[in-house]
Parts: sequence; structure tokens; C-alpha cells
Amino acid sequence: MKIRPCLESDLSQVAAIHKAQFKGFFLGHYSEGLLAEYYRMFLHSFIFLVYESDQCLGGFVLGGRVKDVQAARSRFLRQHVLRLAAETLIRPRVYLMVLNRILGVFRRSEDHMELPDYTVLSIAVAPDLMGSTTAKDLIEAFESRIAPAAEYRLTVNRNNARAKTFYLKNGFQVNAEDGDKIFLFKRLPQTSSESPGNSEQHTS
Ligand SMILES: CC(C)(COP(=O)(O)OP(=O)(O)OC[C@H]1O[C@@H](n2cnc3c(N)ncnc32)[C@H](O)[C@@H]1OP(=O)(O)O)[C@@H](O)C(=O)NCCC(=O)NCCS
Repeated sequence: MKIRPCLESDLSQVAAIHKAQFKGFFLGHYSEGLLAEYYRMFLHSFIFLVYESDQCLGGFVLGGRVKDVQAARSRFLRQHVLRLAAETLIRPRVYLMVLNRILGVFRRSEDHMELPDYTVLSIAVAPDLMGSTTAKDLIEAFESRIAPAAEYRLTVNRNNARAKTFYLKNGFQVNAEDGDKIFLFKRLPQTSSESPGNSEQHTS
């Protein structure tokens, strides 16, 4: 088992894990093909790590500087606007979610907060690895890549009780709550002065 940077050849498995594990959440409604294109935006200049076990992916974590993550998401919207529109049209269940997202751009509930520069955008493990140490290993690998950052943040959906429990037991604290969103952050012990990287790491 090892944790290593995500490669282009991993994208379909990353998309499949996303699709299986984010059912009911916004992007989880879209096709695996579109999800793979979404994750492709983060292949370079981000901390995008996968957990490989027996040649299969057991999970992934993706994050980076908040402004870079926002820029990559905007780039995805611009580059795939037609496909997104087409996939949205045939999925009435996402209409309300799309509307909320558009309105959210104007609300920007995070704007007034003092927030860390780094964020985790997405983390998921394969269903059969839930409850193992895979997610913990991934989050720790992410943290070692953002050193010497003192803290980082993420957002979890209020309905995602399992993820919230996972974060709280792994040292996150609640910063604020707004509607269905909970904003969490984690302070990191300051031990090294390495610059953020994306190198390979072997686990047990
Ligand atoms: C979030 C995720 C990466 C965490 O990994 P995991 O292996 O499931 O995490 P763990 O099992 O170590 O921790 C989850 C904890 O929640 C608990 N839990 C399970 N179901 C729960 C529920 N419905 N409500 C509250 N807690 C719950 C588990 O018992 C466990 O706590 P414990 O170790 O004290 O028993 C994984 O669940 C996942 O991939 N989820 C789908 C994708 C996702 O939601 N990602 C996060 C987006 S913000």
C-alpha cells in the first residue's frame, strides 16, 4: 500500500470513487466522465494524492491553496459549460442545487471569516475501506505536504454525519456553520520548515 500523487491514468478510478461515495451530493449526480474531467483540472500544482492498494485505488485526497482551488473550479466551469448544461438539463434533481450554488456566489458566507490559506477540496475512500485507517493516512499525507502551513480548512455538509465525525476525531474544530454547510479548520503542530510538495510516501 502506498500514498502517491494522482496520475492521469488514475482519474477514472477517482471519478468512480467519487460517484460511489458522494451519492446525493451535487457533483455526485453527474457522469463519471464529467467527474474525471473535473479532477483533471487538479492534476498539476495541487496536492492530489491517491491511496494505492493491490494496483487499485482505495481513496484520494485533493486540496491546495484556496485561491488556486477556486481558480481551477472556475476554469472547469468555463471549459465544460456546455457539457455541464447538457448533463444538468437531464437531471431535474440537481436544478435546485444549481440554483443554490448560483445564489451562493452572491452570499459568500466565508468572506467575513479569518481563514487559513490551504483547504481540502475533496477526500473519499472506497466503500470497503471505510472504517480502516485509509482516510486518516490520506489526511496525514496531505498535512505533511502543506508544511509549514499552520492550519487548513474544509467544508462539510451538515447531512454528512460520518465525515463530520471523522474530521472531529482527527483534530478539526468547527469555525462556523451556515445553512447546510459546516466550516472546519485544523491547526497543525509546527515541526518542520519544508515547502509544500507532492512527493510519494509509502505507508505500512
Ligand atoms: C469521510 C471519509 C473519508 C471518512 O473515512 P472513514 O474511513 O469513513 O472514517 P472513519 O471510519 O475513520 O471515521 C468515521 C467515524 O464516523 C462514525 N460514523 C459512522 N456513521 C456515522 C453517522 N451516521 N453519524 C455519525 N458518525 C458516524 C464512525 O463510527 C467513525 O467513528 P469511530 O471511529 O469513532 O467509530 C469516508 O467516510 C468517505 O469516503 N465518505 C464519503 C465521501 C465524503 O463524504 N467525503 C467527505 C466530504 S467533506
